[in-house]
Amino acid sequence: MYKQIGILTGGGDAPGLNAVIRAIVKTAIGEFGMKCIGIEDSFEGILGETHTVKLNLKAVSGILPRGGTILGTRNRGSFTKVVDGKTIIPEMPIDEALENLKKLDIEALIVIGGEGTLAIAEQFNKRSFPVIGVPKTIDNDLSATELTFGFMTAIDIATEALDRLHTTAASHDRVMILEVMGRNTGWIALHAGMAGSADVILIPEIPFSFDSMLDKIRQREKTGSRFTNIVVAEGAVEVGTQPIYMDKEALRLGGVGSHLRRRVEAETGKESRCVVLGHLQRGGSPNAFDRMLGTNFGANAVRALANGQTGKMVALKAGEVITVPLADAVKNLKNVSVDGQLVRTARDIGISFAAPNESKL
Ligand code: F6P
Repeated sequence: MYKQIGILTGGGDAPGLNAVIRAIVKTAIGEFGMKCIGIEDSFEGILGETHTVKLNLKAVSGILPRGGTILGTRNRGSFTKVVDGKTIIPEMPIDEALENLKKLDIEALIVIGGEGTLAIAEQFNKRSFPVIGVPKTIDNDLSATELTFGFMTAIDIATEALDRLHTTAASHDRVMILEVMGRNTGWIALHAGMAGSADVILIPEIPFSFDSMLDKIRQREKTGSRFTNIVVAEGAVEVGTQPIYMDKEALRLGGVGSHLRRRVEAETGKESRCVVLGHLQRGGSPNAFDRMLGTNFGANAVRALANGQTGKMVALKAGEVITVPLADAVKNLKNVSVDGQLVRTARDIGISFAAPNESKL
């Protein structure tokens, strides 16, 4: 049994991180008698001048409903850079990290993060350092797990935003556009769009035709609905174009909503407004589901380590937490299936994805 384990959070924060940390500490101490050290600011905390914090039961008391992460996080660590329009992770200074872990008496790691962070965790596994990953991202784009914690809270927030936009859109006969996060996948837009009764959902997996989107607005006008609610994923692309970045060099997506707003006004003469939901989707308290999933992931991650597993990630499959190889977890991103059940259901109830041939689908 390990005497002391390290815990770190990496990548963009997500509601539920503190629930995971709390469950890890409670399970490690209460069930297995292991001590816990929190590594601050992702892997940065075990590089150079290390910065860590002791995590005892008192340290995690009261943090379950708190947003963010008590350990701090980084989504652009000093050892990552963007090259050729793709995020690459150069070899982490792994020797330095392993040496520091030894000095700190940390015998195993639990790494909570998304694709990039878990790819680094896999490097520790390759060097035979015991590590278990916990999948986190509001984008829900990790293929080896049915859900990541943080996603459900993000959908709740986006759905509430759509509900609120609905009443103001209807009052003013406007076209309201809500831009949501999700990187290059449309999970948040699809789920919130369906739950918040959007008329048009634009997602990266279904390149959209601007004309097809206008058709939907005009068709609604004809049937007496003089307003339209559109939810657009930040990574949505118009057919034959590239995603829109607010910062191309840093690969930060953003801007597609206001781009569409200008064109809608120019083409239809209707007033249009764009709301970018941004980091409101990530900040603040996790919903009940994410607290529960985060807690279950955290406890299972400790059990996996205690059972001698390493190089694994906890994952949700058919309602049960299982473990899968970390290497598999970071291999492929999970995209919305363009002919899957959810897209089909959305179309059946009249939601448009503004595909070029939408009316024939
Ligand atoms: O991956 C989570 C996420 O919130 C994405 O949806 C979004 O594109 C990105 O992170 C934003 O990153 P940052 O916090 O650097 O603005």
